[in-house]
Amino acid sequence: MTTNIFLGVAWPYANGPLHLGHVAGCYLPADEFARYHRMKGNHVLMVSGSDGHGTPITVRAQKEGVTPNEVAQRYHEEIVQAFKGLNIKFDLFTTTRTDNHRKVVQELFLDLYKKGHIVLQSQELLYCPEEKHFLPDRYVEGVCPHCGAEKARGDQCDACGRTYDAKELKNPYCKTCGATPIIKSTEHFFFRWQDFGQDVISWLSDKTYWRPNVMNFTHNYLENGLRESAITRDMEWGIPVPIEGYEDKRIYVWWEAVVGYLSASIEWASKQSDPECWRDWWTDKNARCYYFIGKDNIPFHAIRWPAVLLGDGRFNLPYDIPANEFLNLEGRKFSTSENWALWANDILERYDADAVRYMLTAIAPESSDSDFTWAEFVRRNNDELVGWWGNLVNRCLTFFSKHFEGTIPAIEETAEDQELLSQAKEAFDKVGAMMEKCQIKGALAEAMEYVRIGNRYFDSQAPWKQIKIDRQRTAAIMATMVRFIASMNVILTPFIPGSCAKLHEILALPGAAEASTWSMPSLEIGHKINTPQPLFKKLDTSVAEEEKARLG
Ligand code: MF3
Ligand code: ZN
Repeated sequence: MTTNIFLGVAWPYANGPLHLGHVAGCYLPADEFARYHRMKGNHVLMVSGSDGHGTPITVRAQKEGVTPNEVAQRYHEEIVQAFKGLNIKFDLFTTTRTDNHRKVVQELFLDLYKKGHIVLQSQELLYCPEEKHFLPDRYVEGVCPHCGAEKARGDQCDACGRTYDAKELKNPYCKTCGATPIIKSTEHFFFRWQDFGQDVISWLSDKTYWRPNVMNFTHNYLENGLRESAITRDMEWGIPVPIEGYEDKRIYVWWEAVVGYLSASIEWASKQSDPECWRDWWTDKNARCYYFIGKDNIPFHAIRWPAVLLGDGRFNLPYDIPANEFLNLEGRKFSTSENWALWANDILERYDADAVRYMLTAIAPESSDSDFTWAEFVRRNNDELVGWWGNLVNRCLTFFSKHFEGTIPAIEETAEDQELLSQAKEAFDKVGAMMEKCQIKGALAEAMEYVRIGNRYFDSQAPWKQIKIDRQRTAAIMATMVRFIASMNVILTPFIPGSCAKLHEILALPGAAEASTWSMPSLEIGHKINTPQPLFKKLDTSVAEEEKARLG
């Protein structure tokens, strides 16, 4: 039975390039999960796009003296390029700046307004008397009301991490002109989150299979209680409020960005033969909707987006939200301002996508934060990717080409040969079962355990010795090994698709590697493989020091 699998992947802000913390946080695991399900024959839709509105973008645009749209488009293109380089494949990667997105957001807003879940209320906000406008959170700074740090932002203090209302800032000043803001009353639209607290709790009650850290975070957040909050802002950049007399106000970026999952699905479907087919994932009750995000996005995906969907009532709620924790770098948090970061496009100039994908999956921060170190990158590449897998393939296929012209001979299998092939069969089930549970790091580790089983078989059978004694027996060993390698290549495809595509070609298997089914490929007697070539590069240990020197 095929299942409709939807993957919504967090929308990256279009105000900077993608770094490997983001990649490990959600984009790579989503891609691996999607690739696995496509190979299983499931009906997969994976969408995302760049988050193009909001003050992070207007602040940068103002600094650079360009329009917000120019900033958003430039980084959108950079992000798309990084995904391409990393072999991360969306069915659609769009932006929140499309007409379609605006339309879908405005319709949903109106629907919820008519139902009374969105209401108009007056609110007191900081206002710049010099420039005569209200100050969005990032446009005001002052002293943190909690820790006393200077230059605390309007909504959150970088020093202590706490959030607050901008009116609580001590000695506030307008970030652009320096004037002292006054408090002024204005009107805004509020979402009544509290209408859905109970419904969210009961929806969560059967999600026993969620990661414990995600569930705990969600419950802790809910315990603080849901209060209504303003979902519109006084600014020019963003999606206009679709209500007469309020067209000058914009919908809060967080409220509209999550709607992107729906609007992107609709946009994708509009380009297919059946423009209504997005419903396969959004209204078919058997569909499973997964949201791949970083842990800082949990409240918006596990509480607020479900509340909006509950309020609207037409669409599927999330099935699972396998949020990752954070990736650190050489023992410290990523910091883009201090250049303590690994920029995807830059890293891809020096290393293969698969080496990066392998490392980021092997150390995926699934249940706790994890640390990327360059020494570990070199070690994993050399010992595991090259040592366990690349060398096994290379030794085996070179020998097979040399002594058997790369052609599968007719053989008589021994119990040991059959045992190895039944291990390969088992690998599909074991690795598959972990993928189903979103345990991607565990799935890769499991796959590599089977690779090591192959290594042990190859070493114990020692075909290079056998060939001098018994050609018949050697033929059986080699045919078994090639079949085993072909199986492992299918299993590794979701993780390291680039090198698997290469090996798929060397093995002369039909179609594209990524379109293979999740099962043992058949290599019949007489099947001839192509000339083997090395799949990976060993790295010099000096790489670790060189790369560390680039940081900071
Ligand atoms: N751009 C935001 C972030 O990266 C939000 C992403 S998820 C969205 O944290 F669905 F809200 F867009
Ligand atoms: Zn503080």
